[in-house]
Amino acid sequence: RENVPIITIDGPAGSGKGTISQSIATKLGWNLLDSGALYRLVGLAATIKGIALDDEVALSVIARDLDVSFKPGDSGIVDIILDNNLVTDDIRTEEAGASASKVAAVSGVRKALLERQRQFQTDPGLVADGRDMGTVVFPTAKIKIFLTASAEIRAERRLNQLKQQGINANLRGLIRDIEERDARDTNRKDAPLIPAEDAIIIDTSTMSIDEVVNTVMEAVEKVY
Ligand code: CDP
Ligand code: CDP
Repeated sequence: RENVPIITIDGPAGSGKGTISQSIATKLGWNLLDSGALYRLVGLAATIKGIALDDEVALSVIARDLDVSFKPGDSGIVDIILDNNLVTDDIRTEEAGASASKVAAVSGVRKALLERQRQFQTDPGLVADGRDMGTVVFPTAKIKIFLTASAEIRAERRLNQLKQQGINANLRGLIRDIEERDARDTNRKDAPLIPAEDAIIIDTSTMSIDEVVNTVMEAVEKVY
C-alpha cells in the first residue's frame, strides 16, 4: 500500500478542496477520499442519537463503528449511506459542518478515523481532501497542496452554492460561520488546520477553478 501515490489537498472551508480534488481524481482516474464527510457523518450520527458533541467516550464508539458506504449515484454525485439511510444532502448543511468541526476536535474521534482513512490508499492512486491529510494521515505523500482564500471570498462561494439550491442566505452570517469554524479547526490541539512544511500553498481568492486545477496538475506532472 505504501507505494500507491497520493496527492493531499488540505485547506479551510470553501477554499475549493472538494471541487479541485474531484477534478484531479477524475483527470488521473484515481480514488478520492473526502475525509470531511467522515467527520460530518460522526456529527450527524451523534446528533441523531442525542449524544453531546464533546462526549469523547460515546463519540469515539460512533466513529469506530460508523456504518457508512459510498456508492456512485445519479449525475456523478456519490451517494452517502449511513445506517441504511441516504444522507448525502443532510451532511452538507452549514449546521452539519459546524457539528463536524466540534466532533473533529475530540482526539478519540480522530484516532478512530485514522486507519479507516488510510484504507483509501489503493491502486492506482489517491486524492485525499481534508484538513490534516498532508500533516497527519498521509505525511509521506509526495504532493501536498494547501488551498486558501479570504474568508469573505469563501463565504461568497458558499452563498452562490446555496443560491443554486434555491436557498437564500446572508453573507455576514456565512462569514461569521466560516470564521468560527476556521478558529475551531486552527486552534484545536490535535491535528490543527495548518499547511504541511512541504505543502504547495495556493491562494485561490482571485483564481478560477480551471486555473487552480492547472496549477495542481503542473505540480503532479513534475512528480508523476
Ligand atoms: O471543499 P471546500 O469546502 O474547500 O470547497 P468546495 O465546496 O469545493 O468549493 C466551494 C465553491 O467555490 C464551489 O462552488 C466552487 O465551484 C467554488 N470555487 C472554487 O472552488 N474555486 C475557485 N477558484 C473558485 C470558485
Ligand atoms: O467542505 P468544508 O471545508 O466546508 O468541510 P469539510 O471538509 O467537509 O470538513 C468539515 C469539518 O470536518 C471541518 O471544519 C473540520 O473540523 C473537520 N475535518 C477535520 O478535522 N479533518 C479533516 N481531515 C477533514 C475535516
